[in-house]
Amino acid sequence: MTDQTPAPYTGSQRVLSGVQPSGALHLGNYLGALVKFARLQHEIETFIFVADLHAITAWQEPAKLADQVREIAAAYLASGLDPAKATIFPQSAVGAHAELAWVLNCVARLGWLDRMTQFKEKSGQHKERASVGLYTYPVLQAADILIYKATQVPVGEDQRQHLELTRDIAQKFNHDFGAENFFPLPEALTQGPGARVMSLRDGSAKMSKSDPSDNSRLNLLDGVDAIAQKIRKAKTDAAPLPETIHELADRPEALNLVGIYAALEDRTPAEVLVEFAGQGFGAFKPKLADLAAARLGPVGDEMRRLLGDPAEIDRVLAAGAERARAAAEPTLAEVKQLVGFWGPGR
Ligand code: TRP
Repeated sequence: MTDQTPAPYTGSQRVLSGVQPSGALHLGNYLGALVKFARLQHEIETFIFVADLHAITAWQEPAKLADQVREIAAAYLASGLDPAKATIFPQSAVGAHAELAWVLNCVARLGWLDRMTQFKEKSGQHKERASVGLYTYPVLQAADILIYKATQVPVGEDQRQHLELTRDIAQKFNHDFGAENFFPLPEALTQGPGARVMSLRDGSAKMSKSDPSDNSRLNLLDGVDAIAQKIRKAKTDAAPLPETIHELADRPEALNLVGIYAALEDRTPAEVLVEFAGQGFGAFKPKLADLAAARLGPVGDEMRRLLGDPAEIDRVLAAGAERARAAAEPTLAEVKQLVGFWGPGR
């Protein structure tokens, strides 16, 4: 890595992010990712893809994978992503991601990947049985971002390290190939740990699609009855809601439900407490259930409508893939030239 600070990147600003088609989407994905994507599309040129190349780092049933991709696309559309504004596409339909990933595999160092905590978590006790793809997954993620020269990447806290790696890879590529400022150094747009949606069964664990208890999460495809029931069963404590947020510091379940309420109404937790201070969960939970059903019900309904006739989704994905290819190809051509690959007249 270089010591001198390169001149600031002057290319245009672009947002890019993706979600893996490997399990049902839930409230955490909705608030932490989908709603944010839909907001950003009005401000900056936005690329949002379905990360199917990432998904196959763990086994995915071939007969189901395409439908899993459609389900994520349906969630994007139902959450307000507009194909006229954002470019929405399946990762595997744009070959440049994988091509750039190979070049970046030769830029990234083993020592850098050895530090990735998500690989350690996901590979667990049996590292030797994990796919090689799982190991090099963060390099593919860097390629996803850099192929569009994206500058802002909305992701969860757990992806921060992958964004730092992306910056390291971009910087080393620029340096090694004498192309200062070729790749921008992208920034993670995270919302900070306080705003995370936690499990309904355990306020200290993230709401997760891999949690064995389905009652721990509100899935986007849950009907309004299931939503109400899960909130009724959500773990809480016996104390009434306090007046200030810091009094919730050692009540993670209560804090989580207040946080969810606030996020669903686009208010701050403090504002929610002004309304509910002194009330117990017997009063708060039905209000939260109504609010969650009112916000998530229509999203689930729209997803079901779209999935009922996948032709519309397929049209969006095909058109998005074409636009994404057109945006990715110039970068790939430049990379090939910088690396020195053969080309006519070169
Ligand atoms: N790794 C991300 C996740 O699991 C998904 C992802 C893949 C991604 N490529 C990306 C996110 C590029 C942002 C940018 O959540």
